[in-house]
Amino acid sequence: MPTSSVPRPRVDALPRALRFPDNFLWGVGTSAHQVEGGVDLDGRGPSIWDTFAARGGTRHGDSGAVAADHRRRMADDVALLARLGVPAYRFSVAWPRVQPTGRGLASQAGLDFYRALVDELLAHGVEPVVTLYHWDLPQALEDAGGWPVRDTAYRFADYAGLVADALGDRARRWGTVNEPWCAAMLGYAAGVHAPGRTEPGAAVAAAHHLLLAHGLGVDVLRGRLSPGAEVGITLNPYPVVTAGTSDADLDAARRIDGIANRLWYDPVLLGRYPDDVLDDLSTVSDLAHVRDGDLGVVSRPIDVLGLNYYRRYHVSYERGAAAVSPWPGSPDVSVAAPDEPATANGWRIEPDGLYESLVRVATDYDPPPLVVHESGGAFPDAVGPHGRVEDDDRIRFLDAHLRAAHAAVAAGVDLRGYFVWSFLDNFEWAEGYAHRFGLVHVDYATQARTPKASAEWFGGVVAANGLPPASPAPPGPACGDP
Ligand code: FCB
Repeated sequence: MPTSSVPRPRVDALPRALRFPDNFLWGVGTSAHQVEGGVDLDGRGPSIWDTFAARGGTRHGDSGAVAADHRRRMADDVALLARLGVPAYRFSVAWPRVQPTGRGLASQAGLDFYRALVDELLAHGVEPVVTLYHWDLPQALEDAGGWPVRDTAYRFADYAGLVADALGDRARRWGTVNEPWCAAMLGYAAGVHAPGRTEPGAAVAAAHHLLLAHGLGVDVLRGRLSPGAEVGITLNPYPVVTAGTSDADLDAARRIDGIANRLWYDPVLLGRYPDDVLDDLSTVSDLAHVRDGDLGVVSRPIDVLGLNYYRRYHVSYERGAAAVSPWPGSPDVSVAAPDEPATANGWRIEPDGLYESLVRVATDYDPPPLVVHESGGAFPDAVGPHGRVEDDDRIRFLDAHLRAAHAAVAAGVDLRGYFVWSFLDNFEWAEGYAHRFGLVHVDYATQARTPKASAEWFGGVVAANGLPPASPAPPGPACGDP
């Protein structure tokens, strides 16, 4: 249900210096297509994002062809990570670099790159956190129907096995799928992400097959990794608040909460779909893609649940507002435009939504330990005269979100780690290079890396395992604001 009833922390009432639990895992993240470039290397095949960009799906026609050129600069990037004092690095493997057509033999050169990356991380004392699928489906699999087709889930399981065989002896932390809501709903219903389809029924099938891929992937990873390995999935919760108070507004909020949150939590953590969400979706899908036994696979026990938090959704009823949208079966909902303050890409800054997300999953479910796998913001960074990027706005943003995470820990949530999005400025999907999320600035003309003030600040947080008393005040609206 909408989470507005979750008690909010009074951040200004919290002590200014906060310590996180011992062994808390601090890290930064990227994903393959957003940083690697090197699309001509390793026999890599095209992904749906190459095709989507070539067809004009991204701002200014930007693509991931070069991105932060990390495929070529990997060793320097890892050395930089270590210099910044970052203990863990969450990255994704590009499926089309490992299996150019999404099926059959692996590209040894592709696997070698990821082996080298993991070895380099370990040599620098940085813990690798592997994500298998961060949205770059091999185009050949999309040509065969993509995620709406059941076979894609089995192809993913094969691919998971290839990567596990190659990296299983050196990487201990594994995630199957990143943010399946985005992959299914932005990609196949709203059409604003690759592959750019606007087919609500297909999006519902894609959602199920992404979940099935996760479950099949867990089985494969369990079979190939050592018993100490940690396996999970990364979801992206959105606390939903109602912008109005009518029954229709409340129903709109229920619908959005259903598709954004419960459609993922319930199958993974409870082994069933929520009835009300199935009712909503049944207006666009006969749901015949859900087969007996599937939900048992989807709900295989996991060791960790990754959560990516960026913002809340403010929802009200509006007839016909969402005819083409990421909300299949719910055309009469409106997700409000953000008010100030917002990040450079217009996402409202609401750190207390992170607290709500963590408390909600811990309260409504019985999840495994949680890790924030992504939290960060885009800000209008500029390299100053002395080569410095003074991103105080990002520092305030992260400070406020870390306080919200700490408040969740204080409320009893078993939160084990926190990864800032992102290590490097990168290709922000449909937005191309318009927005910078990195702790490290990337000059795309020269590929020069410049750590921002926030990188240094984050190093201090890691070293202190908490927020030093000198941390700046959080930006409004802070946690605890009405
Ligand atoms: C998340 C994605 C990540 C990045 C951030 C800003 O939804 O997982 O790749 O684009 O948003």
